Amino acid sequence: MLRSLTLATALSLGLGFAVPGPAQAADAAAGQKAYAKCRVCHALEAGKNGVGPSLKGLFGRKSGTGAGFKYSDAMVAKGVVWDEASIAAYIADPKGYIPGNKMIFPGIKKESEVADIIAYLKEATK
Ligand code: HEC
Repeated sequence: MLRSLTLATALSLGLGFAVPGPAQAADAAAGQKAYAKCRVCHALEAGKNGVGPSLKGLFGRKSGTGAGFKYSDAMVAKGVVWDEASIAAYIADPKGYIPGNKMIFPGIKKESEVADIIAYLKEATK
């Protein structure tokens, strides 16, 4: 609870996870390792959908608009543009951020791990 409050606070302040700091610097290499948790469902090649949609071109895309994937109504209705803050909020607590979405994933509670994954995805989804 305390942790998610801290996360929510950071997000609402617009700090996201981009602020480099000695203790919090995101680590893309660690993020690549942690992405193993996502890779089972998400390919990074364009158009390659699996259990989840391809994450190619994720940043700047609206939720639920990846080509050729059948999203839940909840994901489409959310209509959020994916950026560092929204991706962080979603993967930290998928059900809390988008109630009714169909990604079967409990969420990543460690803020530094969320930040690492995002640092990795920023490059890998280009
Ligand atoms: C068990 C399979 C599964 C795992 C594991 C998983 N996802 Fe998902 N993900 C999905 C599904 C299914 C959807 C579509 C949800 C919907 O339409 O409601 C989705 C949707 C998404 C979206 C929205 C994509 C879009 O085009 O709008 C993002 C971002 C995302 N996942 C990131 C991640 C990340 C990062 C991880 C790892 C931390 C992860 N997911 C782990 C299945 C998974």
